[in-house]
Amino acid sequence: MLVKRLLFLALFGIASAVEQVRYDNYKVYNVRIDDRQQFNLLNAQEKVLRLSSWREVRHLGESSDIMVAPQYEETFESLLLKHNISYSLKIDNVQRHIDAQRSLQRTGYHEWTQYHTLDEIYAWLDLIESRYPDIVKPFTIGDSYEGRPIRGVKISYQEGNPAVFIESNIHAREWITSATITYFIDELLVPRNPGVRDLAYNVDWYIIPVLNVDGFVYSHEVERLWRKSRMPSDPTGECIGTDLNRNFDFLWMLTGASADPCSEIYAGPSAESDPEISQLTAYINNSIPEGTIKIYISLHSYGQYVLSPWGHTDAEFPEHYPQMMHVAKGFSDALYRRYGTVFTYGSSATTLYEVSGSGKEWAYAVKNITIPYTIELRDKGELGFVLPPEDIIPVAREVTEGFVGMIAAAREVDVL
Ligand SMILES: *[C@@H]1O[C@H](CO)[C@@H](O)[C@H](O)[C@H]1NC(C)=O
Ligand SMILES: *[C@@H]1O[C@H](CO)[C@@H](O)[C@H](O)[C@H]1NC(C)=O
Ligand SMILES: *[C@@H]1O[C@H](CO)[C@@H](O)[C@H](O)[C@H]1NC(C)=O
Ligand SMILES: [Zn+2]
Repeated sequence: MLVKRLLFLALFGIASAVEQVRYDNYKVYNVRIDDRQQFNLLNAQEKVLRLSSWREVRHLGESSDIMVAPQYEETFESLLLKHNISYSLKIDNVQRHIDAQRSLQRTGYHEWTQYHTLDEIYAWLDLIESRYPDIVKPFTIGDSYEGRPIRGVKISYQEGNPAVFIESNIHAREWITSATITYFIDELLVPRNPGVRDLAYNVDWYIIPVLNVDGFVYSHEVERLWRKSRMPSDPTGECIGTDLNRNFDFLWMLTGASADPCSEIYAGPSAESDPEISQLTAYINNSIPEGTIKIYISLHSYGQYVLSPWGHTDAEFPEHYPQMMHVAKGFSDALYRRYGTVFTYGSSATTLYEVSGSGKEWAYAVKNITIPYTIELRDKGELGFVLPPEDIIPVAREVTEGFVGMIAAAREVDVL
């Protein structure tokens, strides 16, 4: 396999493709946005200073996380000073944290002490499928653009359960999501407390640990901070990839998405243009009995939010908003009680941030799934995408506790 691949690279002269992109001395700033002018100013400078947004600001008075290359650092800082924008430096060398994410002695074992590759995650799925054949039902929604299978598991202890559907790692660089959800799968298989045992026995879980398989592999092999799919859309071939969480067929391209193939939030040439999304929705349509999915979760990082529809407007609320908030509160309170981590909940649209064409919006508006969330895991802008592997277990444990609270709250409002 490796030989074949090296041969391929040699033949086509794209050996440079396997050279990893480095972020030596790239910095991440936490920048507070107090008014519209500051907001517009930073947006206008994004291309000029090649700023990379790690986290968008949601409300005035809150902050955005911005990565800056060393050659633009001075200009960027003087711009902030000149416009009286307050900021703090969060990460002074992104590469150092990327190295720390990989530095552990690598093992093939899945013990949640390291970030695994797609091959390792799939080997682990093979293992649990063979070890728990009565409980784990494997499925594949289809192949990615580059031809990798997109695998999921249904965890079911008995027939007739209501279901929760979880897609994770739709954004490639959000590694903590697949690390967390595989831990949760393991918890369901070997429940360690009565709360989790209840979730396992009485709810069916459809889980796709890595939806954006191509982007995920690319983020491991080439560019750690890759976000999008790997399907080329730009005719010049310069810009690759669709933001898969803007590619769903509900209010596609209405707001908070871009028609520029080079943008990080490029929505794709058309709704469901990318096979990852068209096959996900076809799978949900055709392979899961209508009405069984009660909760849909799109797992992301970071920011510690539970976000519900609507994403495209904060001027109106969906019919089931009260239930959505009740269940989100159940999630947040449960993990806060036990671990002290604060998750904020509400609808995803705010005065500064709107989005359409995302998974949770499609799940609600098209599939009538009452409780649809985007959950943004830790942290709140300290390390963002480069959380160290030591954080995987703490994050996974708190999310597990959150799910216990979520299911209990869903029962209270008769969603389950
Ligand atoms: C700069 O911002 C601070 C608050 O962050 C404010 O007190 C001060 O008046 C501002 N100065 C100018 C020149 O706008
Ligand atoms: C899935 O079902 C919805 C209606 O429930 C429909 O609008 C949509 O086109 C279907 N998508 C696919 C890919 O089958
Ligand atoms: C969703 O609900 C609406 C009305 O509330 C209905 O018209 C539509 O057929 C339902 N769609 C599905 C897929 O159940
Ligand atoms: Zn994301």
